[in-house]
Amino acid sequence: MTKKQDKNNLQNEDLMEEIISLCKRRGFIFPSSEIYGGFSAVYDYGPYGVELANNIKAAWWKAMVRENENIVGLDSSIFMHPKVWEASGHTSGFADPLAECKGCHTRVRVDHLLEEAGVFADEKMSAEEINKLLKENREKLKCPKCGGHNFSEAKEFNLLVQSNLGNFTSDWSKTPVYLRGETCQGIYINFKNVLDSARVKIPFGIAQIGKAFRNEITARQFIFRKREFEQMEMQYFVHPDESDKSYKEWKERRWQFYLNLGIKKENLKWHEHENLVFYAKAAWDIEYKYPFGFKELEGVHARGDYDLKQHAKYSGKDLSYRDPQTNEKYIPFVVETSAGVDRTFLAVITDVITKEKLEDGSERTVMKFPKELAPIKIAVFPLLKNKPELVKKAREIYDNLKSQHMCEFDDNGNIGKRYRRQDEIGTPYCITVDFETLKDETVTIRDRDTMEQERVKIKKINEELKMRLAKK
Ligand code: GAP
Repeated sequence: MTKKQDKNNLQNEDLMEEIISLCKRRGFIFPSSEIYGGFSAVYDYGPYGVELANNIKAAWWKAMVRENENIVGLDSSIFMHPKVWEASGHTSGFADPLAECKGCHTRVRVDHLLEEAGVFADEKMSAEEINKLLKENREKLKCPKCGGHNFSEAKEFNLLVQSNLGNFTSDWSKTPVYLRGETCQGIYINFKNVLDSARVKIPFGIAQIGKAFRNEITARQFIFRKREFEQMEMQYFVHPDESDKSYKEWKERRWQFYLNLGIKKENLKWHEHENLVFYAKAAWDIEYKYPFGFKELEGVHARGDYDLKQHAKYSGKDLSYRDPQTNEKYIPFVVETSAGVDRTFLAVITDVITKEKLEDGSERTVMKFPKELAPIKIAVFPLLKNKPELVKKAREIYDNLKSQHMCEFDDNGNIGKRYRRQDEIGTPYCITVDFETLKDETVTIRDRDTMEQERVKIKKINEELKMRLAKK
């Protein structure tokens, strides 16, 4: 079967529906606690989802830690001393303005309502100013659930997720313990430990991948806005005079990361923050063109010395750096690159999902993952499942390949259905053992994108696949 058309003909809502449905059907993403009716804005990664997410994290770790002599890794805890969140400003300032629809009692983020109605709301606005805008634009603002225009006054709603850890034992039990709202705070509080143990010198970076938690109000857009999500953050500590230069470099490098990952350039763009938080020197987002429009995928921030200064102040510890050559003592500036695993996952899926019409009039959905990211690299099939000699041979090939590549053995249904399924989960190569195999020790290797099949000697499979998988 050859292709008539190679075109992604899915648009916007249809595309979002298609992605959500395929992710569920093929075991990429499940809504959390589904058997109990679901749990809003929390999702679970299924068998193929966890492979894709791991491949994304591995690509980030390679680009940030392995390929940079002066960037080291860290895995700090989700729980931190409550003072961390006071020092960072999260307990007082990490909040969204919320209003309730008086018709259906849905709580909505006022900044989102205003944005959707085309009304400019400054991030630094007080609750009073936000409420003034809410009143003035009443007719323009529409409840996303019932379409009503009548809202309560907006109130600030803190995004930190509270826990009761240690409530019964510790001295600080009166202060709530939080699940971390961002991973970078774990990096700042370990700055001195890393400095004293890892023989790093400024400039250097600390990278971390880990879960973060936020009481997001607007639970929508699938895994784009989750309440439990994963961040890939790197904090680069530099001399204050080097901060601008370093910021520019990191902007370029993070942009290139997505291109190297295979994301289409036309689906990426830069967005500059108009209103910076008071300590920030610069903030730009890399946005991706999701099915619901261009939205933040990663933030690149010049944070100055705010974070280390705050933690020095709240902990009473000296978090300055002494240059071993010049003896100069200073608080380093931070350049932060902050990406989301889930948002990269959704960007990758959006980028690669393709529907193709085939010559026989049928259609196939194919996820054209770059090979590095594909959850399964090779699937191995016996042509027929009730022929023991074919099954035995296919098993031998699978057993031989599985320690080197993520492979799958499949003998369910007919061969056409198996190819269709592997196309949907984005497997680059399928190997089929058929009756010719028994005669001449060859198998077919089918290419996901061209659907072409080539006969290859079994003893050449390893070499052939290694070569094919290494190609971009
Ligand atoms: N340390 C800086 C920081 O946390 P942020 O812009 O709030 O900055 C950084 O978050 C990245 O984390 C975002 O660009 C996004 O990829 C991811 N992220 C933030 N909130 C998220 C959510 N609710 N669900 C999924 N990903 C999220």
